[in-house]
Amino acid sequence: MTLRLVGISSSPRHANTEHLVQEALSAAQQSPVPVDVDYISFSGKRIEPCTDCQVCASRKRTCIKQDDWEDLVSALLDPVPNGVLIASPVYFFDVNAQLRAFFERCTSLLKGWWIPDFPFPPPDFTRTAAAAISIGFHRHGGAEHAMSTILNWFLTMGFACTGSDYIGGGAWQLEQNTLDAVKADELGLRNARVTGRNVAYLAYLLSSHRETNPSEEEAMKEFRCLEQAMT
Ligand SMILES: Cc1cc2nc3c(=O)[nH]c(=O)nc-3n(C[C@H](O)[C@H](O)[C@H](O)COP(=O)(O)O)c2cc1C
Repeated sequence: MTLRLVGISSSPRHANTEHLVQEALSAAQQSPVPVDVDYISFSGKRIEPCTDCQVCASRKRTCIKQDDWEDLVSALLDPVPNGVLIASPVYFFDVNAQLRAFFERCTSLLKGWWIPDFPFPPPDFTRTAAAAISIGFHRHGGAEHAMSTILNWFLTMGFACTGSDYIGGGAWQLEQNTLDAVKADELGLRNARVTGRNVAYLAYLLSSHRETNPSEEEAMKEFRCLEQAMT
């Protein structure tokens, strides 16, 4: 079995946030077990916020709004992945509006939790490892707050969360307003790598792959070596 990890950048640009997700996914792929990665960018995508229209409560499987949300969320549903990394640029000390809208629309997936006999059960993310990444212009611009918003969404949806040494892959642009300024933020890049590694590790611990792997001890030893190399 191969672990499947999904990395999402909510930036409308192919820039710093994207670079951090790629850094985290590459680190995850250094795992001693095979890891396939899917990268998803919100760049060029249209995601409307939830308007509480309640149509999803009338026995629809998901939200009926016609935009890119359904296509984007399918990466988390068909099938449910082993691990997810969500990264947002900091906009006003929090996640950007596109990610907030994406989160709100996922309400439509959870109706089975509170509507009796609802025909579509909510997705089971309890064995999916999840972590947050964020980047701001300023060192103290709000990346930690944005990551905590992402983690709160993960917890609400039932994911199993992990982080880096602190709460995730926090980074900054070193006050250089360029598309790739984060490449000079060594600590930020390291935070992203450790976060990616931790998602792979937790995904492995949660996976049935672990229970059936004859070289379990060998894999655990290699995960620990990887940890030492990065910290
Ligand atoms: C609308 C807007 C609001 C922003 N607010 C903040 C902020 O509160 N704190 C911060 O550090 N950076 C802020 N920034 C800067 C972005 O977080 C930063 O440029 C980030 O690297 C963008 O990610 P990207 O390059 O992947 O698009 C803001 C940028 C925009 C466009």
